[in-house]
Amino acid sequence: MEHNYISIKSLKADYRQKKQSVVALESVDLSLPKGQRGVIIGPSGCGKSTLLNVLAGLNQSYTGQVLVDNQPPICGGKTALILQEYGLLPWKTVWDNVILGMELRKKSSPEIKEATQKVLEKLGLLSMAKRYPVQLSGGQRQRVAIARALILEPQLLLMDEPFSSLDALSREEIQDSLLKIWEETRVTMLLITHNIEEAVFLGQKIFVMSSCPGHIVQEIENRMAGDYNLRGRVQFLEMCNQLRSCLRGGEYYAAGA
Ligand SMILES: Nc1ncnc2c1ncn2[C@@H]1O[C@H](COP(=O)(O)OP(=O)(O)OP(=O)(O)O)[C@@H](O)[C@H]1O
Ligand SMILES: [Mg+2]
Repeated sequence: MEHNYISIKSLKADYRQKKQSVVALESVDLSLPKGQRGVIIGPSGCGKSTLLNVLAGLNQSYTGQVLVDNQPPICGGKTALILQEYGLLPWKTVWDNVILGMELRKKSSPEIKEATQKVLEKLGLLSMAKRYPVQLSGGQRQRVAIARALILEPQLLLMDEPFSSLDALSREEIQDSLLKIWEETRVTMLLITHNIEEAVFLGQKIFVMSSCPGHIVQEIENRMAGDYNLRGRVQFLEMCNQLRSCLRGGEYYAAGA
């Protein structure tokens, strides 16, 4: 039987303020097998970040069952979370930003050096190792954030709209890099995006969320994802159009079904 790395059942999460409470998520069911790439897409404010924070162990005020590798989520450990605003330390160089997590885990210097070189090379950042974040483009900064997460060899990579501030071309380049990384590591990935093309290009499973309180209205198996030449194909555009109408409240129907 396929092992679900993420398993969520009847998840409800709310935010309580003085007098009122906002229900951010209601009756969310979601499962993602180990080693798959999942994408969550849905309108602004529907609870996507809340869901990711629950999975990252950062939000523990929820009800329902949430399991990551058969355990309730914990902060850190084998899960890495990458945010839109990079979270890089501006006073540290690319190299020093990337080694941070390994230093905290008290790895030896030769081990850190080897792993850092490898990950920077993989992301095309080796020549920029001595630069500071301010000396990098948005795409390069996002690559540093990915390198910093990958160096710890996570089993689950959670990403909250990681590429939303990038121009279209940089965005496609970094999507390609992410796919390559996945091919090498087979890390389980769950990515949030507003971008329909990104969802179809990357997501083997696409979860469409409704507006607040959010729940999953459609779960789409996307067998096209993972082909580097997909963007130019007619089927890709058809799939994007279907997803678009689904997001507008229509019913998704599988092409060719
Ligand atoms: N700390 C908070 N206190 C109160 N309400 C909150 C808090 N954080 C989020 N919310 C509310 O919970 C709901 C879900 O928020 P969340 O940030 O998860 O949405 P989102 O889908 O990530 O939105 P976006 O696409 O704009 O990032 C929203 O209605 C939001 O206003
Ligand atoms: Mg959000």
